[in-house]
Amino acid sequence: MQSHLVAYLAEHHKIAESDALELLLESPQPLLLSRRVLEGIPADARVITAEIVRRCAALSGNVPARPVVELVRPGPPAETSPFALLREGFEPTTGAEPLVAYGRLFQSRYQALARLVKGRPDLPNVHPVAGLKRAEGTASAIAMVRDVRQTPEKHHLIVRLEDPSGAVEVLVLKDSAAARTPFLPDEVVGVRLAIARERERRIPLVETVVRPDVPAFAGRPPRSAHGRVLFLSDLHIGSRSFLDGPWGALVEFLRGRGDHPELAEEIHQVVVAGDLVDGIGIYPNQERDLAIHDILDQYRALGARLAELPERLEIIVVPGNHDAVCPAEPQPGLPEEVRTHLPKNVRSLSNPSTFALDGVIVEAYHGRSFDDLIPAIPGASYAHPTEVMKRMLLMRHLAPIYGGRTPLSPQVRDGLVIDPAPQILVTGHAHTFGADRYRGVLLLNASTWQAETEYQRMRNISPVPAQGAVVNLKDLSVTRLDFASGELAEPGAVA
Ligand SMILES: [Fe+2]
Ligand SMILES: [Fe+2]
Repeated sequence: MQSHLVAYLAEHHKIAESDALELLLESPQPLLLSRRVLEGIPADARVITAEIVRRCAALSGNVPARPVVELVRPGPPAETSPFALLREGFEPTTGAEPLVAYGRLFQSRYQALARLVKGRPDLPNVHPVAGLKRAEGTASAIAMVRDVRQTPEKHHLIVRLEDPSGAVEVLVLKDSAAARTPFLPDEVVGVRLAIARERERRIPLVETVVRPDVPAFAGRPPRSAHGRVLFLSDLHIGSRSFLDGPWGALVEFLRGRGDHPELAEEIHQVVVAGDLVDGIGIYPNQERDLAIHDILDQYRALGARLAELPERLEIIVVPGNHDAVCPAEPQPGLPEEVRTHLPKNVRSLSNPSTFALDGVIVEAYHGRSFDDLIPAIPGASYAHPTEVMKRMLLMRHLAPIYGGRTPLSPQVRDGLVIDPAPQILVTGHAHTFGADRYRGVLLLNASTWQAETEYQRMRNISPVPAQGAVVNLKDLSVTRLDFASGELAEPGAVA
């Protein structure tokens, strides 16, 4: 954990004195407190002292932070537990006027992502966008993309950028390197601009675009990491299409009674990336697809299914858009009345959540934002969700687009910013299987346990169900297990 904190602060160009580091480590969510410290000190301050940490901890006492949900019995002492919660994305909202609350949310996003971009060598002479009017020659800005349109004849791009000082329109030539990666609404970018001296050619020309991105070394697991983790998603318990047979094969495998018991034995944790149950009233005429029509009965059935897995496993779950929590993201963990129906070895976290498994940082996000990002990115599809996940890492944001299909919760801090950079990013929602890498970060889309439904056929989604991704924490290698055939196929290494 200490090395994560040091690396996290280094990415933000900060060093912590040793007693400040100790105080941060004592916090229940060390990276959450660290982010508050970063927000509370001037951007050019280099050293974090214990006094600064104490002040931020005291101040954040006024911010209602949700305590870590501990569903496990008083377990092994923290230092021997391979699980460490780094940050839950969800924090309760303050009840401020919606306009004020969303203003704060976007300000928080801007500040968090601008911090990552600031100081990059490609961005000399950074100005607030309002100050660009007076600039000449080369200048840079860090801003949020408001909208993009094309010039009528030549189809160059006019991008409207905003920062807290105001808004500006910039020109991106259609065949330039700057136009190669499409601009998405509400992402934060740094731009190097050429600004002409003549008044009539005052629209700044974008020469270079710098996105927050993950550092090149982000995917390297710590040397001490060992053991394996099974990643699953989209169980959709309660659906008529739940894949009972393949689930039984998964249970047999984990109990060491299937093929490859040696592999099962090394698995210590299971992560489930949302849509734990099918829910009620999620899409039109869903009742026709349901085997269980009561939401609590669905969670009772989920509890029974999870209880079939060996008790020694630690099961970490986040909700998805089918679960019985507020759909606005970040979503809170499961409510108490639901958690009581789950076995004691289940940890319920918010969607998204960042945690370390034996020192390997995992960002778990259900993936609802695929519904907005896939239509917005030319060539993107549900069949290849890991391509979209690469874009999430490039933006350092899981769901930037406001006003689409993913409702965003107006939190004081944008809990969908990807910070710290993970070593594993896992999603579900697309109901396919994907494993890939980006700058060393392992990207997983963790399949589903629901066969194709009529609704999915209508939406052109062809599921690849009942696949398990087993990750070796030591080197982040992935073994794909196919439970769909009823027989466990020879595990194949992927990605
Ligand atoms: Fe799903
Ligand atoms: Fe989903």
